[in-house]
Amino acid sequence: MRIRFSLSGASILMIVVFAACRQQAAIDITSLRCEQLTDPQGIGCAAPRFSWDICSNERGIRQTSFHLLVASSLEQLNADEGDLWDSQVIKSNASTNVPYDGKKLESRSACFWKVKVTTNRGGSQWSQPASWSMGLLHPADWHAQWIGLDKSFRDDVVEQGNTRLAARYLRTEFDALQKPVKATLYMSGLGLYKLFMNGKTIGDQELAPTPTDYAKVVKYNTFDVTDELVQGKNVLAVALGNGRYFSMRQTGDRSVRHFGFPKMILQLELIDADGSRQTVVSDDSWKVTADGPIRANNEFDGEEYDATMEMPGWDVAGFDDSKWLPAEPVQAPGGILEAQLNRNIKVMETIRPVNITQPKPGMYILDMGQNMVGWVTMKVKGKAGDKVKLRFAETLQNDGTLFVANLLAALVTDLYTLKGAETELFEPSFTYHGFRFVEITGYPGTPSVNDFEGKVLYDEMEVTGQFETSNNTINQIYRNAYWGIRGNYRGMPTDCPQRDERMGWLGDRAVGSHGESFIFGNNNLYAKWLDDIAQAQREDGSIPDVAPNYWSVYSDNMTWPGAFIIIANMLYEQYGNSEPIAKHYDSMKRWMTYMRTKYMKDNIMTKDRYGDWCMPPESPELIISKDPARHTDAAVLGTTFYYRMLFLLERFAGLLNKPDDAGAFAAEALLVKNAFNEKFFHKETAQYSNNTVTANLLSLCFGMVPAGYEEKVFQHVVDKTEKEFDGHVSTGLVGIQWLMRGLTEHGRADLAYRLATNRDYPSWGYMVENGATTIWELWNGDTADPAMNSHNHVMLLGDLIVWFYEYLAGIRNAPGNGYDKNQTAGNDVLSRPSLRGTKQSSALTITELQNNVMGSSGFEKIVMRPHPLEGLDYVKASYRSVRGLIKSHWQKHDGGFHWEITVPGNAAATVYVPAADRRQITESGQKASSARNVKFIKMEGDYAVFEIGSGNYSFHVGN
Ligand code: BGC
Repeated sequence: MRIRFSLSGASILMIVVFAACRQQAAIDITSLRCEQLTDPQGIGCAAPRFSWDICSNERGIRQTSFHLLVASSLEQLNADEGDLWDSQVIKSNASTNVPYDGKKLESRSACFWKVKVTTNRGGSQWSQPASWSMGLLHPADWHAQWIGLDKSFRDDVVEQGNTRLAARYLRTEFDALQKPVKATLYMSGLGLYKLFMNGKTIGDQELAPTPTDYAKVVKYNTFDVTDELVQGKNVLAVALGNGRYFSMRQTGDRSVRHFGFPKMILQLELIDADGSRQTVVSDDSWKVTADGPIRANNEFDGEEYDATMEMPGWDVAGFDDSKWLPAEPVQAPGGILEAQLNRNIKVMETIRPVNITQPKPGMYILDMGQNMVGWVTMKVKGKAGDKVKLRFAETLQNDGTLFVANLLAALVTDLYTLKGAETELFEPSFTYHGFRFVEITGYPGTPSVNDFEGKVLYDEMEVTGQFETSNNTINQIYRNAYWGIRGNYRGMPTDCPQRDERMGWLGDRAVGSHGESFIFGNNNLYAKWLDDIAQAQREDGSIPDVAPNYWSVYSDNMTWPGAFIIIANMLYEQYGNSEPIAKHYDSMKRWMTYMRTKYMKDNIMTKDRYGDWCMPPESPELIISKDPARHTDAAVLGTTFYYRMLFLLERFAGLLNKPDDAGAFAAEALLVKNAFNEKFFHKETAQYSNNTVTANLLSLCFGMVPAGYEEKVFQHVVDKTEKEFDGHVSTGLVGIQWLMRGLTEHGRADLAYRLATNRDYPSWGYMVENGATTIWELWNGDTADPAMNSHNHVMLLGDLIVWFYEYLAGIRNAPGNGYDKNQTAGNDVLSRPSLRGTKQSSALTITELQNNVMGSSGFEKIVMRPHPLEGLDYVKASYRSVRGLIKSHWQKHDGGFHWEITVPGNAAATVYVPAADRRQITESGQKASSARNVKFIKMEGDYAVFEIGSGNYSFHVGN
């Protein structure tokens, strides 16, 4: 009896425990990030920010508090001692961008951290630890000198159009008394460096460091080289290339800003087991030569490598450098040395060529099958002195040879001189090309595709989005965008990678950056670019069209510099990163004041520079249309954009707790709107200006149209598109940024879909139809004058990628402005009518301002509203947000609609299930209205609206 009793007692206990487990969801903390990076090294900011994902197989997980520990050693962290910061339990739902608030962080500190949370469904254990290290925070931390040699060597051509400069090679040897327990190396090499130690390449970065205005800021990189160091003799060896420091063009109309001869700074800090320290620095004891194998390097023109001039053993101990020159201490570049947060460029993918042809004797054309950015590696066997030339281009001529006219004066050629070894492998170091085809001449023997590989290089970043539909045109456009966007990430978003330009043109990336953020984790890159823009601002407030300002283009318009404000808003919405707004708010305001003071006449912004750049011209050979009816009035562009900037700044002022500023922006906006309508709105016809799509669309999307006229104005957008342009796009770079969303928000998603799937001129599908594997600069890129005709420009994507994710898939960070109060199907959430016309901004509390105006940030609140358009059978999309994975897979079948959704932990979503009647809807096989964590809110148009918490859901409508 007793035994029986005790057994059943145990069983009862087990059942109780089991039941308790079932109630307590398993909460896991994963993906710990400091400044959005896993285990970053050499961070430069005083208060790094932390983010983590909360995972559970339970639904509806909301964080209620967190406890974060930061320790100076792993042992302390493991003992739960946060000697640097013990946040204690903080009641807060913040799980992204939580700022460090502990002891002052010193240069070089190693920091280990972990976090645990409580949620509405129970708490987590401590997360696995993560770590970061601090960089050198103060100028006084640097004991190294800038070294180089400020003169030209033989073969160098320094003061002409196409400059030629041999790489500089620098080396030093030093003794380590013991094998250190820790060795950290800080360095910068301008324009570009490659670092070697004891014969090994350090790091996998290429074309480092990230480009800046070197007179203002120079970025350094940090490496943990503990494993590379040996007791006794060690060697540090550095090769320096030109990059953007030694200008590609010093004279001529495409000359690029010149900073000087290449130079470097390096500091290696060793800590031995007994705690003793040794520092090795760059100084005049180093040796330098330019008589190495890289005879010339130039980002536009390519690299010349003479293998007969290799210096075997130069990067290991014992090399005879007696003929080298002593390195000279040279003038510092002038900019503040700062830790680099955005990742360096590296080889992100390797592809194989798909074909090789021989259009002429001795000339071979390699086809990579894809317009790519980077370089090729080549295997070759021949005699010493044989020279192989590789020339790169995006397209071919009819005779199968390269078409190079659109590369303008860029030579885009690598030259390799063989040394006569068994097999030689060539790959360049200090150049890159935008190409699909490679012309090979001088190759000893017959080259085959197996002798080459394509190295795809761009800024290291996570691919955050996956997107696929049942429509092949859309899929190919997406793929082209993917290749185009990543190929143009080069520490700054460039316009193009192939001709003699490759600049960070602001206008190209305004709304584009938002679309890109779904595909790539571009937070740190764009935050860095906003710094570049701020650094390029002139004293008087003017912001240039190109940043960093390697070209000095201060044309004073609203549409290009406006990217400064638009992208800061994007970083806040997409990543919850408010730092750029706080950091640059004053610059933004100063720019607006400058523009107002200089160019505002009667509340109309008169100044513009580029118009609606690259709208489709009327005839095939034109770059810019000659037909005035296609051009949108400069003052319409200037004033609508000025108004939009006021709107965003009003939001920023709210976020930054500056109600007076917010009120002032709102008041000015009212004046601008009235003046704009007075001047450009024809009430009788409900048309703006000369009735271009862009004029009507911007007025509508920015909320400038007088109440009651919205539908009529929108009808003009539709009529123009359908009747005059036969269902095709008629806008350029400016209008296209709001076109797809504007059409969809106003009820014509079908027309947007038509634009997205067209295969004839002008359309993205037309590019695909004509063999494009990236996105063209011009709608008529196959026929227009090559003078300005890149085949890898992403500016014409406009808001297409945003539309793919937010409207086709229906994954969107919930917009602000009383979304929940005010949402209707046709409500213009793009303009989010702001607080104007309701309460005076200055009368609102900050919380009201933040919640109503800014909306959600970083996908804390998600709106999932797919558009299952006619012709589209399924969309499969996922996006790895700062909070975790968001998934939307929908599929039509048997007249019904099936939708798989994932909402990450600590987020919630408003989901719009396309259904005429909510009773048709089930979730995981149950009536949706009674499913767990699913709350029916309302019917809205063709959608049933539900609120859901985190977790996986499976909605089904109909059969
Ligand atoms: C660039 C564009 C840029 C434009 C502005 C072009 O040469 O390639 O991307 O926005 O100039 O005029």
